[in-house]
Amino acid sequence: MNNFIVTKEYKRFAEFCKACQKENYIGLCYGSAGVGKSMSAWHWARWDKVEDDINQAVPYVVGSKPSIDMESLNTIIYTPEIADSPKNIKNEIRNLMLAFNRLKEKSIYKDEEIPCNVSMNYVKTIIVDEADRLQPRGLEQLRDIYDRNQVAMVLIGMPGIEKRLARFPQLYSRVGFAHPFKSLSEEEVRFIIQQHCSTFGIGIDEKDFTDNEAIAAITRITQGNFRLIMRILKQAVRIMEVNQLSCISKEVVDAARECLVIGNIY
Ligand SMILES: Nc1ncnc2c1ncn2[C@@H]1O[C@H](COP(=O)(O)OP(=O)(O)OP(=O)(O)O)[C@@H](O)[C@H]1O
Ligand SMILES: [Mg+2]
Repeated sequence: MNNFIVTKEYKRFAEFCKACQKENYIGLCYGSAGVGKSMSAWHWARWDKVEDDINQAVPYVVGSKPSIDMESLNTIIYTPEIADSPKNIKNEIRNLMLAFNRLKEKSIYKDEEIPCNVSMNYVKTIIVDEADRLQPRGLEQLRDIYDRNQVAMVLIGMPGIEKRLARFPQLYSRVGFAHPFKSLSEEEVRFIIQQHCSTFGIGIDEKDFTDNEAIAAITRITQGNFRLIMRILKQAVRIMEVNQLSCISKEVVDAARECLVIGNIY
């Protein structure tokens, strides 16, 4: 997560989560495979760090102090297993909430003793990633958790999830916002290529025709899909290293593309 790039789409996603939180709504976020939905959610919740803290102790028993400042954090991320049972969903989310609240208390009270009569819920948003995996009874379970806990909920899935959920009127009536997660614009693709190449000491010159041609080829092949951009760039750098090339070009990008399986992502 150290290499997370703050894109326009991430900022829109963050605004969407904040809006859901403010209104205590269920929000639906959907986008094609690899556009960056999960990475954005993890970054927003600082979940790489929080999950580490939660997992470090005996499952869901938080022992030591949190490794980051938890003051502004209030979100947990739950990724259901394939064909998860409603009971498991309920237990997993409850355990995550408990562990998150323990972490938060440790962060608030620091070295002081935590008053035993204090039992607050600090979780304001539950993000459910891979929500396409949920069966009708699992979705019903989520609605129950939402109703009982007065939290916001953000469901992340593939395009089409919004139509599927419309078949569950009670859950659907609680959906306040829908957010289509789009792929990257051409300028952002250019920015990401520049960032990535600079870490390998490869310069990109805006006025250089060969560089511009290579960027155009990557944009065309990947259609702004983050996962594909990262894959094609890694492969291109490998090809350049093997061939001792110092500049990226359309030919390098085409050779990289031939090594990759790029299916239909839309
Ligand atoms: N903001 C970002 N900064 C840096 N890299 C990113 C970012 N967003 C996405 N990526 C890259 O794109 C890859 C795919 O992102 P991610 O797993 O979030 O996609 P997704 O939309 O959740 O896909 P899926 O629907 O398949 O789960 C990541 O592994 C990472 O390499
Ligand atoms: Mg994902």
